[in-house]
Amino acid sequence: MAFSEKFLDELVDRNDIVDVVSGYVRLSKRSGANQFGLCPFHSEKTPSFSVNAEKQIYHCFGCGKGGGVINFIMDIENLGYRDAVAFLARRAGMTMPEEQSDGESKKRARMLSLNKDAARFFYEQLSTSEGRRAGEYMAKRRISPATAKNFGLGYAPDTWDSLEKAMRAKGYSDFELLDAGLVRRGKSGGFYDTFRNRLMFPVIDVRGNVIGFSGRILGDGEPKYMNSPETLVFNKSRNLFALNLAKKSKSGYIILSEGNIDVVSLHQAGFDSAVASLGTSLTPEQARLLSRYTNQVIIAYDNDGAGLKASQRAIGILEKLDVKVKVLRMTGAKDPDEFIKAKGPDAFRMLLEGSEDQVDYRLRTVTEKYDLSIDEQKVEFLKEATELVAHLPGAVERQVYAMRVAALAGLGADVVTQEVERRHKRLVRRAYREEERQQSRPERQAQPVEKELRYDDPVSATAEEGVIRLLYLDPELARRCSLPAAEDFTAPALQHIYSALRGRLDRGEAVSTAGLGEALSGPEMSLLVGILQKPEQLSRSEGTLQDYIKIIQEQKELREQKNAPPDFQAIIKLQREKGKRYEGNG
Ligand code: UTP
Ligand code: MN
Repeated sequence: MAFSEKFLDELVDRNDIVDVVSGYVRLSKRSGANQFGLCPFHSEKTPSFSVNAEKQIYHCFGCGKGGGVINFIMDIENLGYRDAVAFLARRAGMTMPEEQSDGESKKRARMLSLNKDAARFFYEQLSTSEGRRAGEYMAKRRISPATAKNFGLGYAPDTWDSLEKAMRAKGYSDFELLDAGLVRRGKSGGFYDTFRNRLMFPVIDVRGNVIGFSGRILGDGEPKYMNSPETLVFNKSRNLFALNLAKKSKSGYIILSEGNIDVVSLHQAGFDSAVASLGTSLTPEQARLLSRYTNQVIIAYDNDGAGLKASQRAIGILEKLDVKVKVLRMTGAKDPDEFIKAKGPDAFRMLLEGSEDQVDYRLRTVTEKYDLSIDEQKVEFLKEATELVAHLPGAVERQVYAMRVAALAGLGADVVTQEVERRHKRLVRRAYREEERQQSRPERQAQPVEKELRYDDPVSATAEEGVIRLLYLDPELARRCSLPAAEDFTAPALQHIYSALRGRLDRGEAVSTAGLGEALSGPEMSLLVGILQKPEQLSRSEGTLQDYIKIIQEQKELREQKNAPPDFQAIIKLQREKGKRYEGNG
């Protein structure tokens, strides 16, 4: 246990979940102890995200996410358990206790220090005679020494073991280098440097840690870039290249580009808010990270088919987070680096100022697909364009763009507006029905949302859930009754939750989402909270516990007899009747 019980209790006490969540979600509707708002973790039109002040938990009936206040911060701020605890401690004005550095955090610290030393080694190589090759390459790409220093660029020598030797001399072992992805293992069992004869870009996170590297070949050749593998400290989909610099920008927006070189070039030309998404197309985690630093992103992806596709995906992801998105329209250059070199920073600034918002951009993409002088194509165009405009939430916006579509197609504004409104109504109806359906599907109630956690034996699993719920809500039971063995649990996730719960009870620790937060994965925590949300009668908890144990036993026997498949309908009915009977007591 890294944090003491006392510390966690106080932390949770001082960070009321309703307060914390209200900083991110507008909670409007109220029903009993629950307050509802629009879920920040998936897109929806009617609120299914609930916060329960009594139980100090949140739960989304739509996407299934849930947990206590620490989990909420982990999810919404994209932080690990420890960082989320630190975040809440800061919020409540508490000082963090001295952490016992357990194995993993020691290893992390070692790896970060190794990465920093490696970055320094690569940087120093720039001033060696061999390193001149990298200097020449940078000069060719017009990267100035000041820029190289700003980014901590470096050179990995063209040898098999320069880095390995240098790091060994500093006291790191080959295995530490291997874990950090800086060396690889040869067929004969020896180790050799991963990055050779490359221009090195350290990837630095927002806290200033060197978490990985990206190495570009000097000139042509394959692979053009090599990246650090996923390590204890490096996860490509959760970090952005140069965000450590861009987060300090005063520009008010972040420029998202594809390439490391683009970013370097942009910063050098004075656009200090450029980042790149480490060779992947923008992930939801990266988008969430961005949204912590800005509410406007300007996409400056490569001017090709792949860039176009990636832009459209990024728009979708960013929009969900309420980030304003504009797309840069570069002409006559394939990427920002080339554009700036060809036309200069002023031209790029003009581009930025005029960059289209995403509706214009999408409309233009649709328009370019069709030849509007051919009737059939015009019809197709109208279908696609009106559908696009119909998706806009604002009525005025829809009107404005409907008029633009009408002008493009040479039609009267009325016809197009009517069509847009017809489609809009249909979309709203469909979205509404879909949500209703989602929330009332019986298997949805009996099964976890997360696919990997689906139950093989829903009857037993429902009873297993019951045991967990009772123990959580009435921990005293553990002392009064005999409990089922963890091995009898059929669902691995439930078994794990149950074991963690038992572990805490056996050690005399309190059960809380905060205390369990470290032992359970995100999906497991969500599952637990979903389970806690279901109604339960506590006045006769002993009897109910016996009932659940009986079901688990019976199911076990049934399975052993290799008998009939689970009576799914019956358990749902049982669950529903229970819910009715105990409504209001939950
Ligand atoms: P680009 O090929 O556009 O590279 O790939 P670039 O950074 O613009 O470099 P120049 O201008 O051609 O020199 C965009 C990004 O995709 C990742 C890198 O992060 C790169 O910056 N990538 C590309 C890889 O990870 N591996 C590759 O082999 C190529
Ligand atoms: Mn490029």
